[in-house]
Amino acid sequence: MCGIVGYIGYREACPVVVNGLKRLEYRGYDSAGISLLNTDAGIYKCKGKVSDLEKVIEGNPVSGNMGMGHTRWATHGEPNDMNAHPHSSFKGHFIAVHNGIIENYGKLKKRLKEEGYDFKSETDTEVLVNLIEYIYLKWEVEAETAVRLALTKVEGAYGLVVMCTDENDKMIAARKSSPLVIGIGEREYFIASDATPLVEYTKNVVFLNDDDVAIVSRDEFTLKTIENDRLDPEIHELDLEVGDIDKNGYDHFMLKEIFEQSRSIHDTFRGRITPEMDGIRLGGLYHALPSLVKAKRIIIISCGTSWHAGLVGEYLLEDMARIPVEVEYASEFRYRNPVLYKDDIVIAISQSGETADTLAAIKLAKESGATVLGICNVVGSSISRETHGGVYTHAGPEIGVASTKAFTAQVTVLAMMSLLLGRERNVIEDTEYVSLIKELREIPGKIETILSLNDEFKRFAGLYKDALNFLYLGRGYCFPVALEGALKLKEISYIHAEGYPAAEMKHGPIALIDENMPVVVLSPKNGSYDKIVSNIQEIKARKGIVIAVVNEGDNVIKEMADHVLEIPKTRELFSALLTVVPLQLLSYHIAVMRDCNVDQPRNLAKAVTVE
Ligand code: G6P
Repeated sequence: MCGIVGYIGYREACPVVVNGLKRLEYRGYDSAGISLLNTDAGIYKCKGKVSDLEKVIEGNPVSGNMGMGHTRWATHGEPNDMNAHPHSSFKGHFIAVHNGIIENYGKLKKRLKEEGYDFKSETDTEVLVNLIEYIYLKWEVEAETAVRLALTKVEGAYGLVVMCTDENDKMIAARKSSPLVIGIGEREYFIASDATPLVEYTKNVVFLNDDDVAIVSRDEFTLKTIENDRLDPEIHELDLEVGDIDKNGYDHFMLKEIFEQSRSIHDTFRGRITPEMDGIRLGGLYHALPSLVKAKRIIIISCGTSWHAGLVGEYLLEDMARIPVEVEYASEFRYRNPVLYKDDIVIAISQSGETADTLAAIKLAKESGATVLGICNVVGSSISRETHGGVYTHAGPEIGVASTKAFTAQVTVLAMMSLLLGRERNVIEDTEYVSLIKELREIPGKIETILSLNDEFKRFAGLYKDALNFLYLGRGYCFPVALEGALKLKEISYIHAEGYPAAEMKHGPIALIDENMPVVVLSPKNGSYDKIVSNIQEIKARKGIVIAVVNEGDNVIKEMADHVLEIPKTRELFSALLTVVPLQLLSYHIAVMRDCNVDQPRNLAKAVTVE
């Protein structure tokens, strides 16, 4: 949710910042801006994407070795040129970019207006930069002190970078609930919302913690608390290559990420399954394992696609480890006064590790004394640092806003956790345990087979690209996949779609079915196969169009359905990992054919760092 890039060093800052913004555009893309602290401290900004900003700065004297930029996802004030960041202060001493929400901005704005301050935009950021300037001038303090003092007066969240026109040899960055990373080069420093813009310049980074303030000059980087206490920065080495964040010849990141899934699942279980395939090791759960094994209840909290992975996790953990599981939307959980016990295990699932509601729910769970674990993709993210332990999905950077490979990696982790707990709790027999691990190892190969049918999925997409509605149905492990399939279609093609447990169709959605309604029915051969066959008949009896995802060689459903998408067979427990892939490809092709911006769908952002 909003991307920030800052640079100070010996290079021309403009291309570093603009390229960095392009890398971060998945976080928000309704307006963009840049400011370099050269002689005129110019600010260039506009509504639209970073490519629109490039047109604005073309031919302008945007030169200098220090600057910052922003790509926005609007919270306060509609996306327009004026509300775009950076924002300068009333008397021109400060320029700021900000990610997050200043909750008490109304009160602060009123006070500043009384002091004669005027505002050009409707943003909370302009209030913050004016507050900094007000303190700076009134108390005659250094820029850094003004920033720290101003931050003690604000309520809310910020990832903030500030430049002071009177001190043009440093940048000040601060964080509260909104991520910032400092990249450390040779006589140069980088600041960004996540590590992707830094990786082509340096592998050494410092992740800021809440209430950290970083003062960054060309030669030096100082870390302090908001109360002015010096901190020792912890330097991490990035395990990220430039190739990981490029499209590598694919038309879209989403397609690349769908096609990466056989590799990414491999990476998820790399080093975690013994070579003999008779054991699972999840190092990040080492300390929590005794509590997990004894757990009377697990609560999974997450949002969006990660919530769908959580639903699959509920089925897996209950099936294999026989521990009761509840799955909650983080946003509901944090506000609904949930009952939590000290011996509860809370698992937060998040691709980005930065989702504001999930982070807040984690804090709530920790306050109640529960053990909180994370399943995150982004290494060093806030959620991974806020939890007592956890498992990284290691799916590699996911840039497409619609989540694909993160989902299958999350489900893979949940499957491994369930197997591990099932074994530790003596619920799974040894032979069954080994056979399930072997089957899990087969999943990447089976995904390859599904991906090889891409052209066929594209052909079906062509048939239904103009549909106004879609229904997705599944039972058991395929129910969360139905939800995920519908979400993928809505997100990127703007076609209305609903996912339902197939049996619930009779309690409402069946009324929608007519000859114009495509119904995607997830029907692999499993325990509820016969029931699904009946559901297909019910749809056909009402002239609905059935697109069935079936196992290879299923001639029964082939006879009844309008179309079948064939996938290899796997154990029911792992069926979500395969059935989701054709749905991802179907949505992708429909969206491309409808000329939608697949990687940056309207109104969405990859990491939702505001509630
Ligand atoms: C946003 C993204 C979704 C994602 C959700 C949760 O809505 O567009 O793709 O599933 O946030 O994000 P997380 O990073 O916590 O998994």
